[in-house]
Amino acid sequence: MKRTIKDLAELKGKVVLCRVDFNVPIDETGRILDATRIINALPTLNYLSGQGAKVVVLSHLDRPKGYDIRKSLWPIAVLLMNKIKANVTFCNSVIGQEVKNRIDAMKDGDVMLLENVRFYQGESECDMNFAKEIAALGQIFVNDAFGVAHRENASNYGVARLLPNAIGILMEKEINALSSFMEEPKKPFVAVLGGAKVETKIDILNRFVDKADTIIIGGAMAYTFLAAKGESVGTSIVQKNSIQTAEQILARAESEGKKILLPIDHVCVRDSDRAKRCLVTSRMTGDMKGFDIGPKTIKLYSQAIQQAGQIFWNGPMGLYEDGRFKNGTLKIAKAIANAKGYSLVGGGDTVAAINSFGLGKKMNYISTGGGATMKFLEEGSLPAIDVIQEKIL
Ligand code: ADP
Ligand code: 3PG
Ligand code: MG
Repeated sequence: MKRTIKDLAELKGKVVLCRVDFNVPIDETGRILDATRIINALPTLNYLSGQGAKVVVLSHLDRPKGYDIRKSLWPIAVLLMNKIKANVTFCNSVIGQEVKNRIDAMKDGDVMLLENVRFYQGESECDMNFAKEIAALGQIFVNDAFGVAHRENASNYGVARLLPNAIGILMEKEINALSSFMEEPKKPFVAVLGGAKVETKIDILNRFVDKADTIIIGGAMAYTFLAAKGESVGTSIVQKNSIQTAEQILARAESEGKKILLPIDHVCVRDSDRAKRCLVTSRMTGDMKGFDIGPKTIKLYSQAIQQAGQIFWNGPMGLYEDGRFKNGTLKIAKAIANAKGYSLVGGGDTVAAINSFGLGKKMNYISTGGGATMKFLEEGSLPAIDVIQEKIL
């Protein structure tokens, strides 16, 4: 068992570096479209602040290449100011003298959010010099960033190797919920996968095949699988370097007697059509680009979901942010919400979609992770959790 923040004594006056996952959907005007990940991190931040720690909060947002004002965490700091009783401030860098000065000026219980850690190249590369500079800012490291715990980055993995550490309340809750979901999976175990992060998720899916009985694939992910089967996908997004893995997954599922369901019809738009009219077709040819699953696919997938003993869902079924392509995600969300099997859903965008449909309360468990949740279900742990110290019993 991992050491948790409740095991940390004497937090008063200490500078606690707390990594969270505030990678939330934000529009061009800086409006936060779904705050689930932020709300879920509040118990840890409130606890640390309540214990009198100086709480320095770190997060990434999206995948910026260098500094990008549109990916600033400032809008999230504004939300925190309204949600946390303690004094909340924002610092527009992560390392350097200004950050140190600002920390020196903090009072016990204050909370300060630092800028997007992915503005620094060292973050994703897990550059230990960058990690050292972060670690030098505080005395204790707390990891509450479940959603990114499948990545070995400087601020969630590197820093943990350099400071006394613990997991936060959200991390503990996720570990418990996901572990019990996988203890004795209720059959048939149906996994619904979609979204756009094909490269990350397809490798995890390769091993996940062993766990689930039926795997339903939608979203942009589906076209790589259809391409692997030699089907025509028009100009839909295909992750070319993942086709081989998709072939392996299909072969493996077949030899293990697992079912993989792929879309049998699609909502698409022709690249050449200036009016951008939507078409429903069972075969995408020429310049047709797929953006959602079609009605026959919805029916097929919903039937499998109805029969499930338990369901895991990550990844929207289409480009749901555009009203013309949200139907697949909406209908699958409804099918899961009404299913008799236990439902565990996760992913920044998946959860945002579910909440936008008002179906959040009908899911049995909402995880803040997407790729992280999938990988945890598959492996039972994640690198940025493994690196945290064990509880002293
Ligand atoms: P999550 O955040 O739930 O883990 P991902 O980040 O992998 O999910 O994927 C979510 C994104 O996938 C959404 O922005 C959605 O618009 C996009 N998406 C899904 N299907 C398609 C598609 N057919 N074409 C383009 N984008 C898609
Ligand atoms: C997520 O949204 O799944 C996490 O925040 C991780 O983001 P990443 O895939 O860009 O590392
Ligand atoms: Mg996402």
